[in-house]
Amino acid sequence: MKPRVLSGVQPTGNLHIGNYLGALRSWVKIQHDYESIFCIVDLHAITVYQQPEELRSKILELTALFVAAGIDPKHSAIVAQSTVPGHAELAWLLTCVTPVGWLQRMTQYKAKSEAQETIGDGLLQYPVLMAADILIYQANCVPVGEDQRQHLELTRDIAQRFNSLYGETFVMPETYLPAVGARVMGLDDPEKKMSKSEPGAGHAIALLDPPGVIRKKIMRATTDSNPAVDFETMGAGVKNLMTIFQAFSDWTDDQMVKHFSGMRYGDMKKQVAEMVVSSMEPMQKRYHEITSDPGYVDRILAEGRERVNPIASSTVNLVKQRMGIYTSA
Ligand code: TYM
Repeated sequence: MKPRVLSGVQPTGNLHIGNYLGALRSWVKIQHDYESIFCIVDLHAITVYQQPEELRSKILELTALFVAAGIDPKHSAIVAQSTVPGHAELAWLLTCVTPVGWLQRMTQYKAKSEAQETIGDGLLQYPVLMAADILIYQANCVPVGEDQRQHLELTRDIAQRFNSLYGETFVMPETYLPAVGARVMGLDDPEKKMSKSEPGAGHAIALLDPPGVIRKKIMRATTDSNPAVDFETMGAGVKNLMTIFQAFSDWTDDQMVKHFSGMRYGDMKKQVAEMVVSSMEPMQKRYHEITSDPGYVDRILAEGRERVNPIASSTVNLVKQRMGIYTSA
């Protein structure tokens, strides 16, 4: 039996090249080496208020984008998290073995709760639900961007604590980070991670941005006071553009240095923009083909649910038995 891979994306805002380079691209690369499950984590999205109609349409958009980016739905299960009830059920069972101090220490919780007037309990519980997403499928490998590393460590801590309290139950999942592109920064502010929730028009490149918009955003990206590329002294903005180019091109460090050293920023930006545009074009074309068949995305999600629900139910059953909760014979 192949080992299992699991990952997820929240259906909020517009998917951007950070999400693609940090996560989706790894999924596409490794999907056939594993039994693969990729989730649209709608239960995570509602930890902060989402406009209901928009959330519904984002779930469908994200499913189509997964396929357009190269996830093969014949091989990999694409699942809307809320359609598999075991995720929420296991999250509760795991909540009961998770010290609240572990959750209060999470940097994403601290950052997100600062922006809220009242902090919903869901925001604190968020990483427990994420642990449930992973542990429910006994996933061996979790491909994510750098910002999820701490949540993955917590997942292993929760699994270990459960195993030591109730006996070996969960597989320990490994974090899989891409060599280049694990942390893509904002174009307008390279000190901040590129984020779906950042409102600035020049901050992120969305996967569905038209070529003209991509070019404009890259040409306006923040650089520094040097006139040309110098790999020894470059600031965070230029470094980020170089990372974006290298991740899309798969060039080696040597190739990057030889090609870009001494190149004026205007010319360098044009080349980065063309690299991003040409990488996005096939994905965007496929996205428009997929969405022209209105029932396609619903069929994919129904198939994904059918495939994974039995795995989820059997883990929840095992966990209940281990904990001594009543399970029918
Ligand atoms: P989310 O929706 O914020 O992001 C989806 C994926 O994109 C990666 N990512 C980035 N990678 C590189 N540079 C960036 N600027 C960047 N921004 C985001 C994220 O690391 C992530 O891999 N909690 C998760 C969703 C989740 C999940 C899971 C992931 C829920 N359950 C189980 C893995 C396994 C999140 O909010 O991702």
